[in-house]
Amino acid sequence: MEVREEGIRTMEQEPYELVVVANRLPVAAETDDDGTVRWVRSPGGLVSSLEPALRRSRAVWVGWSGRVSSDDVIDVPIPSSMGPCALREVPLTATQLELYYEGFCNSTLWPLYHDAIATPVYHRHMWDAYVEVNRAFAARAAEVAGPGATVWVHDSQLQLVPALLREMRPDLRIGFFLHIPFPPIELFLQLPWRQAIMEGLLGADLVGFHTPGAVSNFLALANRLFDYDVDPDGLEVVDHTGRRRRVTAGAFPISIDTREYDAIARTPEAQDAAVELRRRLGNPRWVLLGVDRLDYTKGIDLRIKAFTELLADGSIEPGSAVFLQVATPTRENVEDYQRLRDEIALLVGRAVGDHGVIGAAPVQYLHQPFEREAIVSFYAAADVMLVTPYRDGMNLVSKEYVASRMRDDGALVLSEFAGAAVELRDAFLVNPYDADGIKRTILQAMNAPQAELQRRMRSMRSWLFEHDVHRWTSSFLEALEKAGGQE
Ligand code: ADP
Ligand code: F6P
Repeated sequence: MEVREEGIRTMEQEPYELVVVANRLPVAAETDDDGTVRWVRSPGGLVSSLEPALRRSRAVWVGWSGRVSSDDVIDVPIPSSMGPCALREVPLTATQLELYYEGFCNSTLWPLYHDAIATPVYHRHMWDAYVEVNRAFAARAAEVAGPGATVWVHDSQLQLVPALLREMRPDLRIGFFLHIPFPPIELFLQLPWRQAIMEGLLGADLVGFHTPGAVSNFLALANRLFDYDVDPDGLEVVDHTGRRRRVTAGAFPISIDTREYDAIARTPEAQDAAVELRRRLGNPRWVLLGVDRLDYTKGIDLRIKAFTELLADGSIEPGSAVFLQVATPTRENVEDYQRLRDEIALLVGRAVGDHGVIGAAPVQYLHQPFEREAIVSFYAAADVMLVTPYRDGMNLVSKEYVASRMRDDGALVLSEFAGAAVELRDAFLVNPYDADGIKRTILQAMNAPQAELQRRMRSMRSWLFEHDVHRWTSSFLEALEKAGGQE
């Protein structure tokens, strides 16, 4: 997953007409033991979607490089895949990384916005770091944006940026997109800084979410906290100068580059790798697959438990099925993630110990990142894809699996609580809190007649070919173009 350098872009191209602001740049620096810095593709869905969308655009992407720095802004090498898009780094110090990223973003906002599956912490020093870093991102965006430019701010890490940026540069058109769920009022109100976060978001002309449910949570909250009159498409806010301004809110379900996944899956390399993978797994009748960041929201524990119980109660014959779970390391300094890592290792160990035979393990677990081509060959090899998050904003993995099934076969088991479930209605939908339901659905997916699998897969694929990431980008930017408006 190493990134090829193709030269450093100079500042001559500034100012830009389109500025994308996201916590992470599409590339991240990794430092080897000998101090050598390598650039790798950044983890997560945001980069997976935005990178293909921006590849052809003359935009600038402002973000963090994954590097801890004490001082200078560095030139970031352009990955070969990024085309004319330029990158500008916002450096983070070790303290900011700890308090802003690991702290407020991943120990407060992430669990709170995901139904408080883990308990959110509320610490004032973490909030202070969040404000400080949001200011730095806003300042960097203000610096590179041309007069009247469009700025597209992304995700929960940067919710204060829209209002901060509007104060610095009232000439800009500002859009914000949240890549994770927006929680129901009852949960959001726990936040001691709820007012400030909402004011931050309301600095945008357009606020986008994955699902209509998130839009209504947001509008209901604006109504409750500020008593603004809301309508189904947004609200009018009064800014600090007393002027009324329109903020539009809408659902823009993110997607993938469907054609690209389909094309990779069709290559002889991907097909051969899939055959080889099945062979190495012992050519079982069924290969089941999970692909996630190792995050407690993803419900990895649920599927291992369900699969192990199916082996234990004899519903699955030993040797007939192998479950491969691939989990990319993530947020490794955060305590809840460290606990999860141990918990998953324990569950896998138990399954293998209790149900394995010499030379064959029914559950295989790889805690490693992989190249996209390798991930596609896993998708191509899997009869059943298990996507069982307790809560997920969208979940691109489910869409990638569907896009990679060019023969219209394979079964997607999908949590009702993933944003993707709103669109992929022909998946085998499950309530992730219902252990027996998951077991039943896995068996149903494994044993569904071929004709049923094809009908379901065909319908999901045709949806995804139409609703791909390019459509997502253009629909958001077109809506942003129309949004806004002042008294
Ligand atoms: P999130 O944004 O929460 O990580 P998504 O499912 O939306 O979840 O996106 C995850 C992205 O990361 C997908 O593009 C997926 O292919 C990629 N990914 C997941 N696991 C791995 C892995 N082990 N190695 C490489 N990429 C991975
Ligand atoms: O999908 C939500 C998100 O926070 C994205 O911003 C990011 O792509 C992904 O999770 C990975 O998280 P992190 O940037 O913390 O590694």
